[in-house]
Amino acid sequence: TAPAAVIVAIDGPSGTGKSSTSKAVAAQLGLQYLDTGAQYRAITWWMLNNGIDVHDAEAVAAAADKPAIISGTDPRTPTITVDGADASGPIRTQQVTSAVSAVSAVPEVRARLTELQRTIARSAERGVVVEGRDIGTTVLPDADLKVFLTASAEARAARRSGELTGKEATDLAATREALVKRDAADSGRKTSPLAKAADADEVDTTELTLEQVVECVVTLVEKAARRA
Ligand code: DC
Repeated sequence: TAPAAVIVAIDGPSGTGKSSTSKAVAAQLGLQYLDTGAQYRAITWWMLNNGIDVHDAEAVAAAADKPAIISGTDPRTPTITVDGADASGPIRTQQVTSAVSAVSAVPEVRARLTELQRTIARSAERGVVVEGRDIGTTVLPDADLKVFLTASAEARAARRSGELTGKEATDLAATREALVKRDAADSGRKTSPLAKAADADEVDTTELTLEQVVECVVTLVEKAARRA
């Protein structure tokens, strides 16, 4: 088992199984869990609710500090609140998913959330698995372990599609297109883009089941914990 405060960074594009893997690894090893994508979604949801044009970078920057965001770190029941309201459901809507890349490209938003993420990781007494896009490169460059998950665009679209319901799920081609577009935006932005850290272990999940990916990452964490 992992020692007291091992810090694990898990990055990669959407649909690679990042969230499912991160939660399962944290639960199995008794670590805490932080979903940084949920925080970017939460801030985006607040912007949409408060009539801020998400494509107006100045307006987004000016409001970046306003919403109070609180993330629960239990991997079995991850929670997120915005100004005290439960945001777990609304942050997963198509409206938020379409707007989140624009909001997360704004440097003031990233600065604010990066600071919050470092504070949470530092105070995680049982150690923590932090998932996102820039955790190994920017948020926690000293993490004990960095994992970068990849998968083919087809596999990612199929998985994402499986998470959707009804009409949304039937349109695999549209899902693939939206996902590739969001990854391109996340990888192409100026401030801490989606990128693999030089010292990250890359795991291609295309041909693996979730159980296999979890087993692989658990092994990597245990190895890193022995080094730490
Ligand atoms: O992991 P997710 O799909 O819930 O993330 C939503 C968006 O948030 C994603 O399109 C990019 C952004 N994000 C980011 O810029 N940096 C992070 N560390 C995590 C997410």
